[in-house]
Amino acid sequence: MMKRIAVLTSGGDSPGMNPAIRAVTRTAINFGIEVFGIRNGYAGLLAEELEPLDNLMVSGINRVAGTMLQTSRCKEFHELEVQKRALSLLEKHRIEGLVVIGGDGSLTGARALHRLGVPVVGMPGTIDNDIAGTEMGIGVDTALNTIISMVDMIKATASSHSRCFIVEVMGRGSGYLALMSAISTGSQVAVIPEYRLNYERIVELLDVRFRTKHTNCVIIVAEGVCPGHEFMQRLMDTGKGRIQQDVRLTVLGHVQRGGIPSHFDRYLGSRMGEMAVLALTQGERGVMVAQVNGRMQLRDFDDILSRRKTIPADSIRLARNLGIEVGDAVEVA
Ligand code: F6P
Repeated sequence: MMKRIAVLTSGGDSPGMNPAIRAVTRTAINFGIEVFGIRNGYAGLLAEELEPLDNLMVSGINRVAGTMLQTSRCKEFHELEVQKRALSLLEKHRIEGLVVIGGDGSLTGARALHRLGVPVVGMPGTIDNDIAGTEMGIGVDTALNTIISMVDMIKATASSHSRCFIVEVMGRGSGYLALMSAISTGSQVAVIPEYRLNYERIVELLDVRFRTKHTNCVIIVAEGVCPGHEFMQRLMDTGKGRIQQDVRLTVLGHVQRGGIPSHFDRYLGSRMGEMAVLALTQGERGVMVAQVNGRMQLRDFDDILSRRKTIPADSIRLARNLGIEVGDAVEVA
């Protein structure tokens, strides 16, 4: 049985990382394993910022946004020499297993350590929901709840002025947040990187909204397509003289990451954290905890990092049937 493990959060923070840290800590302690928290992601590992965690230190963190361990994006961790330094530091501190919570860059770092022989288990912690192999990442649900409450407010002021709002949401390479929030806020357009957008159709849609006396129109743009202001410029250029509504832009930005974890994210973080420790104790290595058909499963790093997560086809269908413009499927050459 392992005697000592460590946990770190890396990349962009996501709501639910704290419940995950808590679950790792409590489960490990329950198994008689010592747990160390590594501050500030891989950068903190290289700087030897390790501290023992106990039950009291993780008490009450389920309801706290962000990550108590803090996080960072560590560019130098791409280098083999740096990864080897991390390996020797883990050995120096007698860490026998490592839990990494983060997005694709962080899990790529975790795989590098695994390849050097470190027993590593990962967890998908990113609001983008762009990690293949898992239905949900930790933080996605809370980010969506934050987005929909912001868009509901935007819709209220949009309706008062009969305006069109462009709302830029996060999602570097993924339209998941844009699509799902468009569906649940009753927005009119979801501009997502997975589908080719058609400016002309959006102009027409604005015209129909205006003529049929709808008081608002909301276009959700995933940042992975282009910045909201660029989208707005191109839309205005396409619809020159034809767009009757006032158009405004709101960039939601980092508020999307700072929400208090929802029940779903507390539960998901807890389940994944528990599973990560169980996996380590059972000798699993080089795997990520994933939610598959609602259940916790393990997926190889190589599998999840080699594939691009796709947008669920039934959500595209649903959006279209609800009258949301999502653009055209991009043909694969
Ligand atoms: O990966 C999560 C994410 O929130 C992306 O949606 C966004 O593009 C990026 O992080 C922002 O990163 P940073 O906080 O480093 O600006």
